[in-house]
Parts: sequence; C-alpha cells; structure tokens
Amino acid sequence: MDFTVKKAIFPVGGLGTRFLPATKAMPKEMLPVVDKPLIQYAVEEARAAGIEQFIFVTGRGKTAIEDHFDSSAELRSTLLARGKQDLWHSIEAIALDAGRISYTRQPEPLGLGHAVWCARSMIGDEPFAVLLADDLILGEEPCLKQMIEAYRELGGVMTAVMDVPREHVDRYGILDVGHDDGRLIDVKGLVEKPTAARAPSQIAVIGRYILHPRVFEHLDRQQRGAGGEIQVTDAIAKQIGRMPVNGYRFAGRRFDCGDKVGFLEANLAFALSRADMADDVRRVLKRFNC
Ligand code: G1P
Repeated sequence: MDFTVKKAIFPVGGLGTRFLPATKAMPKEMLPVVDKPLIQYAVEEARAAGIEQFIFVTGRGKTAIEDHFDSSAELRSTLLARGKQDLWHSIEAIALDAGRISYTRQPEPLGLGHAVWCARSMIGDEPFAVLLADDLILGEEPCLKQMIEAYRELGGVMTAVMDVPREHVDRYGILDVGHDDGRLIDVKGLVEKPTAARAPSQIAVIGRYILHPRVFEHLDRQQRGAGGEIQVTDAIAKQIGRMPVNGYRFAGRRFDCGDKVGFLEANLAFALSRADMADDVRRVLKRFNC
C-alpha cells in the first residue's frame, strides 16, 4: 500500500455541552481562538500537511461550518467596494476548492469510532488522517505534517501522543508502551479512559491520527467500548500485531479547547504568539496582578 495520506476526516458532530450556552445555536468547532474558529486551525493544519480531500462528519445544527468554508459573494462585493482587498484575500483563502470538501452526517452520537465509520465510503482503500478540532496545537511545524513525514517510512497506524499527569489519564486513550525512542513509541496496547490505577502509562493519545483502512473491519462490528461508545481506540488496538502501530511525540504545545480553562489558555497563547497583538495582551495581563 502507498503510504501517502491525501484524505482527512474532521469529526464535528459533537454537541459541545461543556460550552453551553455558547454552543446552543453555534457549533463548538466555530468557537474562535483569537479571531479564527477552531475548525479552521484544524483544516489549515491538514492543508499544510498536503491533505487534498476534506471530509466533515457533521450533525444537526452544524451548517455554519459548511458556510464557513464556502465562498461568499456578498462579503466579496462588500469588502472590495470598501477597498479592503487584503482582508478579502485572507477571507477568500479560507474557502476550500470545489470538489475537495464533502460532508456526511453522523445520525446519532455513538462515539468517535462511529463518526469515523460514517465516512468509510469516502475513504476507500487508503490511509487517512483524523483531526479533532478540540485539540489545538501551537508549534513551528504543523503536527499532522510531522506525523505524515514519519508515517511515510512506517505505514500502519499512527497517533499523536503526549505525556500527561497521572490524574488526567482518565480523559484520554492511554498507551501500553513498547520501545520508546523519545519520538516514536511502539504501541503494545491501548486503553480508552482508564482509571489512574489501571493506566498502563501516562502517555496519552491526542486528537491527530493516521489510520489504515483496516480499522473499518473492526468499526463495522459496531462494538461498544468505554462509556458505551464505539471507540477509535479499540479499532486501533485491534491492529496491534497486524501492522506497525506507533505513537508520535510531536513537537508543539497542545491545548484542550474542549475544556474552558484550556480554551482560555489557548486564546492567550495564540494571542501572545502574534506580533500584531502580543504587546497589548501582555499589558492587559499585567493589570490582573496574578
Ligand atoms: C478522544 C479519544 C481519546 C483521545 C482524545 C484526545 O476522546 O477517544 O482516546 O485521547 O480524544 O483528545 P474525547 O476527548 O473525544 O472524549
């Protein structure tokens, strides 16, 4: 099999209950970090990694995402009439080329594995990426690009990983670790959201995956795992011994934007990384004296 990764799935069907009331009528993936919605960061990361086909698994009330990546004739004429060419060019760049974007729906919230499975007919027989927009990564080289470069040599399945405190292991898929060279980790086992006592390590899966189409053989069975949901973690665990399954310790700082404090932290970090606003933000922060 060719190890080139051209397709990416963006599961965006979640209800976003942790951000109510903000997410009552707005998809959580449209929450902005500084001035860009979370989902746009994920799409830009995929684009920078060479992805050509963008597959969104949506649900009810998510049409704002479709509109966001569409072109907007109304904005175009308004901005050009006001002489705001530069702003228009930056907006125009958001739209994905015709035919490169597809949407499918996850009719019921049955878990991440189920969301990925809903896109199976759009994937076919090739490796593909999955990006969770909640996991926002700030770094010099986009996380998925780092992974795709490593994947080219290895194939199989690869997940982004990072070390987490023991008291947080129950929020993640956790690795049972084989050989660890500091960057690549040979995965011997995977457990979804274990208790601290049962966690085989403190190395957690972060929301960037490169999956082999064989994971669909497991997902087809629709077996429920942790939390009664169909889990990607379980589909990956089934591949151990059949193909290389690797964790990739990426370079970069990850923010959990599914969490309120993580989301605020991401806003601060991204604002402080921007030359046009870092000084002003630092001044504002000093006023809090903490
Ligand atoms: C999902 C995965 C989990 C992974 C996490 C990363 O969990 O099921 O294995 O560690 O994303 O953010 P969720 O956060 O959707 O509950």
